[in-house]
Amino acid sequence: MTYQFNAETFAARLDQDAEFATRAMDTLLPIDNGPEARLMEAVRYAALLGGKRVRPYLALHTAALFNVDPKCALRVAAAIEMVHCYSLVHDDLPAMDDDDLRRGQPTCHIKCDEATAILAGDALLTRAFEVLAEDGTHQDASVRIELVKELSKSAGALGMVGGQMLDLVAHQHDLDMNEIARLQRMKTGGLINFACISGGILGKASDHALNKLHGYAHDLGLAFQIVDDLLDVTQSTEDLGKRAGKDEEQGKATFVSLMGVENAREQAQVLRDQAIAHLDVFEEKANPLRDMAHFVVNRVS
Ligand code: IPE
Ligand code: IPE
Ligand code: MG
Ligand code: MG
Ligand code: MG
Repeated sequence: MTYQFNAETFAARLDQDAEFATRAMDTLLPIDNGPEARLMEAVRYAALLGGKRVRPYLALHTAALFNVDPKCALRVAAAIEMVHCYSLVHDDLPAMDDDDLRRGQPTCHIKCDEATAILAGDALLTRAFEVLAEDGTHQDASVRIELVKELSKSAGALGMVGGQMLDLVAHQHDLDMNEIARLQRMKTGGLINFACISGGILGKASDHALNKLHGYAHDLGLAFQIVDDLLDVTQSTEDLGKRAGKDEEQGKATFVSLMGVENAREQAQVLRDQAIAHLDVFEEKANPLRDMAHFVVNRVS
């Protein structure tokens, strides 16, 4: 099989899938006109504006490997992005990274207020699980339960939330390579892992195929966070749409603080190639996932 990454074709596909995911969330997170309207305004502000929509893309294209109904896959993609958006709203709060810019706009707590931003995060998180549990997500209830269970694990104390705790307590130079890798695997890898296996769960994939997706997700997730840490050092605030230079300023333990820019870049490339190697069994059907591995390492925001 010959495969080549084409950045333009990929960008068009990512754009289109991002639009699908945004439209799905728009429907699943309706405007509320009651006295509590400000909550859904904050939710929609945090969810509908911008973002690369990498996780929805992964959910949609792993589902396509198993010929899953795209309508079901889109609901799962939207649920994952809701959890991701919640994590960003809370990550930006003064008590955490204290950021004022996200996706080129004021962060949710700056646009609204802190209490509303906390509640908006809570509402996004809980709505995501409701969406997974609803009938439209899969006709088989055991599949829906599996999705709920796996997303809980990925987003919870042993996954993203636990990783955020490690991120808060770890200071630069405190951690060695293995400890940083564990932090990043939990903080960012958790949700990326769920995005990648969700398609397999929907499509009742074999254990062998699920293991391959886990392998891909593991390497892709680490590469993704290494590049996030690299961009924090190498890009401008304007290009990123979020404050640059924050990790150094806040003394965060990152791959870049430990191994330097050049080694981190090389490490991300090694992980990209490893991620792609896990996809062999899916042959050319997995080309969109190969593309994503290239994008994750080449991206500039
Ligand atoms: C940023 O994620 C936070 C991390 C987990 C590193 P993304 O880079 O996917 O952010 P958006 O969704 O495109 O804004
Ligand atoms: C956040 O990591 C990961 C989350 C779980 C939200 P970062 O703190 O590095 O993300 P950015 O750089 O603010 O997007
Ligand atoms: Mg953070
Ligand atoms: Mg942050
Ligand atoms: Mg970062």
